[in-house]
Formats: sequence, structure tokens, C-alpha cells
Amino acid sequence: MKITVERKPAGQVESEALIVPVFEGRRDARFGAADLFASGEIAGKPLELTLLHHPPGVRATRVLLAGAGKPEKFDPAEMRRLSGAAVRYLKAKSIKTVAFALDPEFAGDAFASAAIEGAILGDFEPDRYKTGDDKKSIDAFTLAADTPGLDAAVQRGRILAEAQNFARDLVNQPANRLTPLDMADAARKMAAEFGLECEILDRDAMEKLGMGSLLGVALGSAQPPVLIVLRYRPANPQGSAHLGLVGKGVTFDTGGISIKPADGMEKMKYDMAGGAAMLGALRAIAQLRPAIPVTAFVPSVENMPGSRAQRPGDIVTAMNGKTIEVINTDAEGRLILADALTYARRQGCTHLVDAATLTGAVAVALGHLNVGLFASDDGMRDRVLASSRAEGERMWPLPLEDDYKEYLKSAFADIANVGGRWGGAVTAALFLKEFAEDTPWVHLDIAGTAWLDESKPYLAKGPTGLPVRTLVRLAMDWKD
Ligand code: BES
Ligand code: ZN
Ligand code: ZN
Repeated sequence: MKITVERKPAGQVESEALIVPVFEGRRDARFGAADLFASGEIAGKPLELTLLHHPPGVRATRVLLAGAGKPEKFDPAEMRRLSGAAVRYLKAKSIKTVAFALDPEFAGDAFASAAIEGAILGDFEPDRYKTGDDKKSIDAFTLAADTPGLDAAVQRGRILAEAQNFARDLVNQPANRLTPLDMADAARKMAAEFGLECEILDRDAMEKLGMGSLLGVALGSAQPPVLIVLRYRPANPQGSAHLGLVGKGVTFDTGGISIKPADGMEKMKYDMAGGAAMLGALRAIAQLRPAIPVTAFVPSVENMPGSRAQRPGDIVTAMNGKTIEVINTDAEGRLILADALTYARRQGCTHLVDAATLTGAVAVALGHLNVGLFASDDGMRDRVLASSRAEGERMWPLPLEDDYKEYLKSAFADIANVGGRWGGAVTAALFLKEFAEDTPWVHLDIAGTAWLDESKPYLAKGPTGLPVRTLVRLAMDWKD
């Protein structure tokens, strides 16, 4: 999608369709819409869309009146949804060129970025393996506005949304087309394109480092494991913080010997969504260049029940020396993250965020609307929550109290990898804390939010690309 800005009145911009936000209670009279408001055909409710053909006084062939809701409730998140819904509606009608009229009252940088993001995110379809020639997409999107910071805001929106779609495309790849080695290749290629350092640790390297917890998960698969490391170094770092982003990269999760039921198992290709989000975040960070060094760590494995697979009851030794009794081989995410967190600390990261499709329990607790957030440090929690709010990626804090550690007791090793029936998202987070140790750390359980089962007016079904934007903002807004 080609993104441009035209600094002239929206009515003078040529396109197949001009998107115009209309607000509840404002009774817009432009484009002959007064009658439609008067008759009640249009109210301006959120995401209400009305297409007008050959409207008077505009160069565009059509005007799409896009309900924006009440002006006092309109924020960048609402703008992102509006723009996405409008784009998806128009492309379904085979329209290729679109213009967007920024409302003068809502034309600040955050709104301009959100309009661009909504369009790019809304245009994404998870149909790359459909062979028909009837695929629809928007070729050109023009923002009609004239504010001082516009070009930078548009650029930022484009970089963020493209990074998010990059992550979504990886998540969408089935496991036969995205093995751990393929994920490493994708990271390497992206790093070369955007000027990041990339290092891939193979099994030998990880054995030398003592990553017994990570390597145990890989035993059941013919696909070799990798630990992908991407480094962004600012030209002039400010302060002494070094942010580490750790993402779960299980390219397929059968459950291993503790095998999952067949029903719905195909969805477990999205078990690398946390890792994909970290790669996406680094893609944007490389272009936006924050002042803080950021390193991504993505342990990538396939969890399979092959003849060499680890068994329930096996005891592995993690890189930090702790022994783990593997009660359930399906709780594999925490096992690979354990060693990745230790490695990130040894690499000098002073602050850590991990994202992982870690537990079904987080979806039981929070549904599909909020990411489950766990923090070992109030300052880190507040930073991540502030970024998530600003980006409209909802997150909700859950407890990380040491009292729950009792659930993870093992009679035979330092810790068990599962904590029983209750509080599954909490015990998973507490398990990880044993490896984040005293480094300020936030854990994001995205199992309920990384995948949309049904499309929304503004977003296709499938991978959501959460929490790429939050992580990028966290780095951009960092102050020591
Ligand atoms: N990848 C799954 C978690 C998951 C479930 C992600 C549903 C997305 C949707 C994870 O590896 C897993 O299997 N967790 C188990 C943990 C249990 C064995 C303690 C779970 O949630 O059932
Ligand atoms: Zn699992
Ligand atoms: Zn998993």
C-alpha cells in the first residue's frame, strides 16, 4: 500500500473513495448528508459506514461517511478502528485508491499515525496461500491534511503498522513453512534489510551454554532448535539501561508426549507469536532509532512427541543451574523462556519484557480482550502499561505473589514445570520469575490475544500482531 500526504482540502484530492469521519450529535451537512442525518439513516455511531456515490463538491468518485461516535470519546484507538473498518469495507468493493479526510479537530500526530496504522492493519489478509486471482487490496492511501508534524507522524504510523504486519505474516505461516530454522532465516533477512546485528545460536552453542531446559523441549522434533538474537545499538545511547525482549517461538506445539487433543490443534502454529512480535518490534526500532539499546531473544523450537522426546518426570538442568521436573511436556513455553531469560541477563540486559502464548488459563481469566501482564517491578509495570494504553493494546495486571510458588513444588527437583489446576497463568509467570531473578521484568501472556477467531470490521481473522506497538513505544519513550 502506497502511503502519501496531500496538503490540500480533502474535496480536492482525487481517489475512488474519500473517507470522512462523521460524529454522533454533530449532524454533518457536507456532501448532501444533512437529509441522511435528519431522517435517521445516519447517526455517526462508531463504525457505521455509509457510501455516497458522486457526492457534490468533491473530486473523489465516492464519499464514505464513517461513524466516529461521540467526539468526546474519540481517541487514537477509535481512529485506528475507524480507518481499518473503512479500508476493509472499500476493498471488499474492489476499490483500490482511497483518501482520508482528517477532521480538523482530530488531526494531531497521534490521530494521523492511527489513521495510517488502521489502514495498513486493516488491509492485511491471512490469505497468502490462496491461489485465486480475486484477492483484494488497497493500492494507494492518501491522507488529506495540513498540520506541522504530519510527515513524521505518517512515517511513524507506517513503520509501526508494517512491523506489526510483518509479525502477523510470520504468525500466519503454517509450521511446515516456518520451522525454527525458517524463523531464523526470516530474522536474518530482516536484520540485513534494516541494519540490525543478528546472531543465531544453534544446538551446539546452546549445549555449551548449558541450556538444558530449552534443549529438552527440542528433543522430540527432527527440526533443530535455534536461539535468535537481534541487536539494536543506538548511535548515542543515553543512560545505562539495556532493554531485552524475549519472545516464545514455538513454531508448533503438539504438546509433546503430554499430547494435545486433535480438535483445534491446527491453531498451535501461532505458538511463536511472542517471538514474531519481538522480531516485529526490532524491525520498527531499527527504523525509529530510540536512544536505548534493545536486544531481542527468540528461542525457537518445535514441540513434538518424537521417539527422542522428553518424558513426563524427566529432570532437566537450566542454564542458571536450577533443576526442573518436567511434569507436563505441554508446558514447554516456560522451559524455553527460562534459558532465554537467563541468557538475556548474562548478555547485560538491565530490563526485560517477555511475550508468550503461554497459557490457556490467561484466556479463561481475561478473555480475548486483554493481555495478561505480570511484573516483578512496579516501575517496569507502569512503563509497559503506559505504552500499552497509548497504543490501544489492552493489558491487565495479574498477581505475581511468591505465595503461589508453593504450587510449583517438586519432590525431586528445584521446581516443577506446572502448578496444578488453579491459577495457571499465575503459576506460569512465577515459574519464569525464577529465571528473570532480580532483573526488573514484565511478562506478557498473549495466549488469548495473539489470534482472532473471527474477523472484526477493522481486522482480519487470524494473527493480531500484539504487542508490537507497545514494545516499540516502550523503547521510544524510555527515560532512565
Ligand atoms: N501454547 C500453549 C498455550 C496456549 C493455549 C496458547 C491455547 C494459545 C491457546 C502452552 O504451551 C500450553 O500448552 N500450556 C498449557 C499449560 C498446562 C500444561 C499447565 C495449557 O495452557 O493448557
Ligand atoms: Zn504447550
Ligand atoms: Zn505452547
